[in-house]
Amino acid sequence: MAGRIPQAFLDDLLDRVDIVEVIDRRVKLRKSGKNYTARCPFHEEKTPSFSVNPDKQFYYCFGCGAGGNALGFLMDYENLDFPRAVESLASSAGMEVPREPSSTPHDPEREQGNKALYALMEDVARYYRGQLRTHPQAQRAVAYLKGRGLTGQIAREFDLGFAPPGWDKLMKALGTGPEQVTLLKDSGMLVENEQGRLYDRFRDRVVFPIRDQRGRVVAFGGRVLGDDKPKYLNSPETSIFHKGRELYGLYQARQANRKLERLLVVEGYMDVIALAQHGISYATATLGTATSRTHLERIYRLCPEVVFCFDGDEAGRKAAFRALEAALPCMEDGRQARFLFLPEGEDPDTVVRKGGREHFQQLLGKAMPLEQFLFEAVAEGLDTDSLDGRARLSKLALPYIRQIPEGVYRQLMFQALARRTGLDQASLMKLEPAPAPPAPPAGHPAATAPRQYDREPEPRPRRRAPFGGAHSGYSNLAQAAIALLLHQPDIARLADSATLAELEGDDVGLLRELLTLLQRRPESNTAMLLGHWYGTPEGELLSRLAGQERLIPSEGIEQQFVDTMNVLARVPHHSRLAAQVDKLKHSNYAEISDLEKQRLREMLQEKQRRDAERNKPRQ
Ligand code: UTP
Ligand code: MN
Repeated sequence: MAGRIPQAFLDDLLDRVDIVEVIDRRVKLRKSGKNYTARCPFHEEKTPSFSVNPDKQFYYCFGCGAGGNALGFLMDYENLDFPRAVESLASSAGMEVPREPSSTPHDPEREQGNKALYALMEDVARYYRGQLRTHPQAQRAVAYLKGRGLTGQIAREFDLGFAPPGWDKLMKALGTGPEQVTLLKDSGMLVENEQGRLYDRFRDRVVFPIRDQRGRVVAFGGRVLGDDKPKYLNSPETSIFHKGRELYGLYQARQANRKLERLLVVEGYMDVIALAQHGISYATATLGTATSRTHLERIYRLCPEVVFCFDGDEAGRKAAFRALEAALPCMEDGRQARFLFLPEGEDPDTVVRKGGREHFQQLLGKAMPLEQFLFEAVAEGLDTDSLDGRARLSKLALPYIRQIPEGVYRQLMFQALARRTGLDQASLMKLEPAPAPPAPPAGHPAATAPRQYDREPEPRPRRRAPFGGAHSGYSNLAQAAIALLLHQPDIARLADSATLAELEGDDVGLLRELLTLLQRRPESNTAMLLGHWYGTPEGELLSRLAGQERLIPSEGIEQQFVDTMNVLARVPHHSRLAAQVDKLKHSNYAEISDLEKQRLREMLQEKQRRDAERNKPRQ
């Protein structure tokens, strides 16, 4: 099996070939200014809008939006897959394609094995889906799903299937040889009994494929159609399925929402699906395990707020508290966690089916903020009217508060505790010498990017309108910054990585990735950058931005970039503030927790400080 093609070779290759030559050999080019043009080979046109830029080594068509580097052109024009396009281009340049040695850093054998597992799971899902339509007994499953209020459309969206009754139906359908049987066993779809006999794990159940973040089926859950036990079965842990990491419904939630504002964490598969059926398409479920910190980090990378929905009973509150414990170390400023406790005996499925979407959303709006839940839970059973009770409260609460990462939120929690205990903050801190806050694990965003609240904006020599304003041709500031970077990649060095970690908004993720890549490989040119995202939606955006060269100012690019990044850095703060103010407008002031009021005041003060800073005359 051929190993991976080293990135360094690809860069070298793109450096050596000339895109003008590569294209001109296939489509006759005409010089026009410093670029070359032709009628676009990818769409019908009378006047040429296809343009090749020799400096930056990329092409772009203003007519159809096709664009990319020499490799991308070959792939599209000659319909080659990536390795073949590399081979072809390399041979024309007289280079031999090296392959990475088969051991490090990946384990190709395992990678191959996983690849086969992913493919198999997809086949299994297809099989179950087919059985839901064609099996003689499928009607029972369909009736069950309909009985739970689901439409065919939502069943398709979640790819629901039917594992037919019988011990070896799946085995017979897909275990077409010893290798396939081994694979089915490795995937957890077959179980081996004590006599060494193999049989189907899921029998006579509705099955729910569990997809990972990238949409690959990695496991299944299955529910009985009646009241048999166990009610639910799940795939065991395998080399592609780790319960502590996956969230059921996360893939679908991302598909359904271009931009997620919040995610819900519920307990069951059917809760996720019933909510989606009622238009609440941002619910996910842990898979019969407690919410882990890994789950939460995954969620917070996608959106700033999580609402946990639990039963209001004892077990629900216990589970909620465990979720709270997992959440504390993730609570960087700007992130929120709230808790919705449903009436005893209800779950999101029953509540949304009875009350509908509006009702459920109202409940969500009233979910308890983390701080309130923490203090209530810790104070349980304590007499907080007594001095002794308050002392105990602070003793019990402090270890939790210390888990919160450094920042305004943590400070506010200390203040809130001080208010509740009647002790002033200084003596609270003295009560127990505060140990250093737990260090974030390596790779955790907080480990590399300390929040910088007191950072003064850099004084700038003179002010000018930031690049990327309303009439600039870019739909947001991040795109403007990306366009500048594509034009002149070496300006990446001017970006401040601390600022970068704080940015939020459309296309900021791509900007961040681009800058990270450029920090790692500062010598990359435009063509290499385009190549990195080739064939992805981001790649399309990059080609388009690279193609709009005429929007780039002819001078002062570096300053434009710095200005754009500075304005971008102010956005998250403003939008958080706007969200808070919005909330204030739409709710009864009395319903807003003291802590939130406090946070709002802090934010307003911060804004005033920044505004004052900005309006100060520059030297
Ligand atoms: P619940 O028992 O709360 O069931 O399990 P539910 O989701 O309300 O189920 P319905 O509405 O009767 O269909 C919640 C979750 O716990 C796991 C499953 O992941 C389930 O979705 N579970 C439950 C199991 O793994 N096994 C079980 O036997 C029961
Ligand atoms: Mn239920």
